[in-house]
Amino acid sequence: MSTEGRTWGGRFEGAMHDLTRDYTAGMDRDLWEFDIAGSIAHARMLGRQGIIPPADADAIVRGLERVRERFRRGEVAWRPELEDIHTHVEVLLREEIGEPAGRLHTARSRNDQVALVNRMAVRAFCDDARAALRDLIAVICDLAEQHAADPMPGYTHVQRAQPITLGHHLLAYGEMLLRDRDRFTDCRRRTNVMPLGSGALAGAPYPLDREMVARELGFDTISRNSIDATADRDFVAEFCFACATTQVHLSRLSEEIVLWASSEYGYVRLPDAFATGSSIMPQKKNADVAELARGRAGRLIGELTGILATLKGLPLAYNRDLQEDKTYYLAAGRTLIPTVQIFAAMLPALEFDLPRMREAAGQGYSLATDIADYLVKKGMPFREAHAVVGRLVREAESRRCELNELPFELYRSASSLFEPDVLDITVDAALAARDIPGGTAPARVREAARELRDLLS
Ligand code: ARG
Repeated sequence: MSTEGRTWGGRFEGAMHDLTRDYTAGMDRDLWEFDIAGSIAHARMLGRQGIIPPADADAIVRGLERVRERFRRGEVAWRPELEDIHTHVEVLLREEIGEPAGRLHTARSRNDQVALVNRMAVRAFCDDARAALRDLIAVICDLAEQHAADPMPGYTHVQRAQPITLGHHLLAYGEMLLRDRDRFTDCRRRTNVMPLGSGALAGAPYPLDREMVARELGFDTISRNSIDATADRDFVAEFCFACATTQVHLSRLSEEIVLWASSEYGYVRLPDAFATGSSIMPQKKNADVAELARGRAGRLIGELTGILATLKGLPLAYNRDLQEDKTYYLAAGRTLIPTVQIFAAMLPALEFDLPRMREAAGQGYSLATDIADYLVKKGMPFREAHAVVGRLVREAESRRCELNELPFELYRSASSLFEPDVLDITVDAALAARDIPGGTAPARVREAARELRDLLS
């Protein structure tokens, strides 16, 4: 049983059961930096507005700076009976400066304090995610330029469909990740609203200068409704969604890396630095980084559904359920950002087997559409051309050969529009023909990589 350190002891006679203490303790111990910065801004404002004696405000600010030093040096032991980081900071401040510490919590509730700290933490995560994504997208642009003319099979339904370039394929991920970066920018903008001054839920009966606190802490604006500011966590859900979507994108890339590294595909060799072995099978080299990134997408989807489920049934305003909010965004940010970072390091280290990819690009009748287009350019309606080439594919299949291995006479009997040059349709010709914006022609891929890079800055 413990009573020590409580910030709300007056109304209570009995001690808290140890099980209650442990059950209700928060998960916010790593957020001290934000809590202290918020408290310093609050104390300065209280002093400036004459709400507390300016001398006490100065003492509080200096004391909080010393508390921050203690945290930085790793000297602060976590005490579950203090429930959360806010109470820890206040108790430590009292150890530093004594009585004036009692004035810090004037015109403030932990409900608006916790909203503030959450918003600062999510904002910082958005910045880190944006920086990591910037680096990864830049890496993808480099690789796309390098492989702008290297063919590979493009797939639909995991069947070889049409030739594409490796650069074009990689840039598809670049586009997804750019939208992900935009989502973090949007999320940051909606997160960057300063809630302090909302009190427990109704606002505070003091002449607070909320704009001053917002400026000092780098917020764009202040919240307009004290109930909303203390009760909602949509910015957490939005952040978790941005993380989950990004991780899902990287999970799709992971799945491809896993497939490409298999002997069935043989498109990439995994660099030793980003692979692991098997404890039993000496020959194995596994794409575990990609597999874990894929697996962790499941976790991030869980963080998103977790916060939404937590919010779903909550009446306004603050409810203790909201203490769980941190667990979702901390896990989401701490899972996503290292994933983005390791991809930026790993992608340039992958060794692509370009000859094998080029060979595969021409197999599996992947030029059939181009042969149909050949007939269309000679005047045949596309549907008819599709049927003519379909019959040729059936013929090739029965002979177990590729389309360009069929004798020319067969083409001629399929359609009199065929000339011997139909056998000249190659993978490179198919690539070069897709010379429109957004297409896979090497020149277009180089251009798209440049555009994407420009959008980064
Ligand atoms: N530890 C709580 C949290 O992190 C803050 C306390 C909020 N207020 C309350 N009445 N229990 O959400």
